[in-house]
Amino acid sequence: MLFTKRLKDTDPVVNSAIKAELERQRNGLEMIPSENFTSLAVLDAIGTVLTNKYSEGYPGKRYYGGNENIDVVENTAIERAKKLFGVPHANVQPYSGSPANLAIYFSVCKPGDVIMGQNLTDGGHLTHGWKTSVTGQIFKSVPYHVKPDGYLDMDEVRKLALENRPKLIWMGSSAYARELPFEEFAKIADEVGAYLVADIAHIAGLVVGGAHKSPVPYAHIVVTTTHKTLRGPRGAIIMVTDKGLKKDPDLAEKIDKTIFPGMQGGPHDHTTAGIAVSLLLASQPEFGEYAAQVVKNSKALAEQLTKNGIKLVTGGTDNHMVLVDLTPYGKGLGVFVQEALDNAHITTNKNTIPKDPSTPFYPSGLRLGTPALTSRGMKEPEMREIADMIARIIGEVKDNALPEDKEERAKYLARFKDEIKQNQSVKRTRDEVLALCSRFPLYPEMQV
Ligand SMILES: Cc1ncc(COP(=O)(O)O)c(C=O)c1O
Repeated sequence: MLFTKRLKDTDPVVNSAIKAELERQRNGLEMIPSENFTSLAVLDAIGTVLTNKYSEGYPGKRYYGGNENIDVVENTAIERAKKLFGVPHANVQPYSGSPANLAIYFSVCKPGDVIMGQNLTDGGHLTHGWKTSVTGQIFKSVPYHVKPDGYLDMDEVRKLALENRPKLIWMGSSAYARELPFEEFAKIADEVGAYLVADIAHIAGLVVGGAHKSPVPYAHIVVTTTHKTLRGPRGAIIMVTDKGLKKDPDLAEKIDKTIFPGMQGGPHDHTTAGIAVSLLLASQPEFGEYAAQVVKNSKALAEQLTKNGIKLVTGGTDNHMVLVDLTPYGKGLGVFVQEALDNAHITTNKNTIPKDPSTPFYPSGLRLGTPALTSRGMKEPEMREIADMIARIIGEVKDNALPEDKEERAKYLARFKDEIKQNQSVKRTRDEVLALCSRFPLYPEMQV
């Protein structure tokens, strides 16, 4: 999407917000592990006339006329997904990861059925049965946890599965820095006859790039978002594996029916086009190099943080993510570190850590990721530089303590936010970040 005078003349408010956002992305270090910079080709595809079309149904079976071009786009995305992941069936219509997960529930479970997923504060996703998600209200959710060392407690998973006989088990996380033990999950799910669903939203790009084991031989269903490590537009894909079709030959049809007409209306055809383009790019050898570099960068970041005396959940990483444990300095420190880093133009997110002594809104951890920085071309030396900056900022704010009293807390945080803006170390870090960003230009083709 190249900037034109048209948008500026039509809507200066939205135009200037988009420009400001481009500047923010260019002049900052994007380290939220679920974010990435999609390619210009994907941006081209999603900003097209495909957004004008209604195409309820599936290729060759639409409810409206005029879908011959949309069929080409959707069939292309489907075929590329099947080939890239090595599955017999793919549905590329889910609007995003959360509705995709809901569709999976409604394809294989009934309300009230027992389901199991990784507990949210242990790294799982809301839609895997957390109490404030509808998934935790419609289904009987039995969460599993990580051990004190931060690794998944597979003995507990088996024990809970044998006791509760779930209909569906989720494997996959939003805040877990270690390789997922797909094989162990499969043994347990098979033992109790549960559907095993791999939610690889975070690691899909690593899986297709060969930097993480594939869940396809082990799971019945694989679901992913397309906008994280896969570097596509915002969307999702649900896939059924050979193992899934063996368990239930109607599984693919059930999922398609749940997506449409069960849950959604017209698919977002412009997004489908972007997904097709991103799958083509992800099938090329350069993407394998990208995925390997994401993990190398994450390991370099983890090692340098550790050298700086920063504690990490599980002590390191196998994937694109590093989870910092801030409890050595007190509880609920994530909000201070995130705010200070924001001021230094390093974008991260405060996150709960296993057995967090604080609350999800004021958690005691920080989640960092390398997919976006790697898309910019940064490598290990830059990761070490960034780790030193993050360690410096943590050192600056570690002596803060969150008051228990709500009013006191609000006042304390407001004062902190004012003061951190003036902090010399934060200002110096911001200058270093700006210099680093200018060495790795983002979307240089976009003229504003
Ligand atoms: C593991 C996992 N599943 C599902 C989702 C939901 O995706 P979306 O935000 O597109 O609804 C996320 C998002 O962060 C995720 O991390």
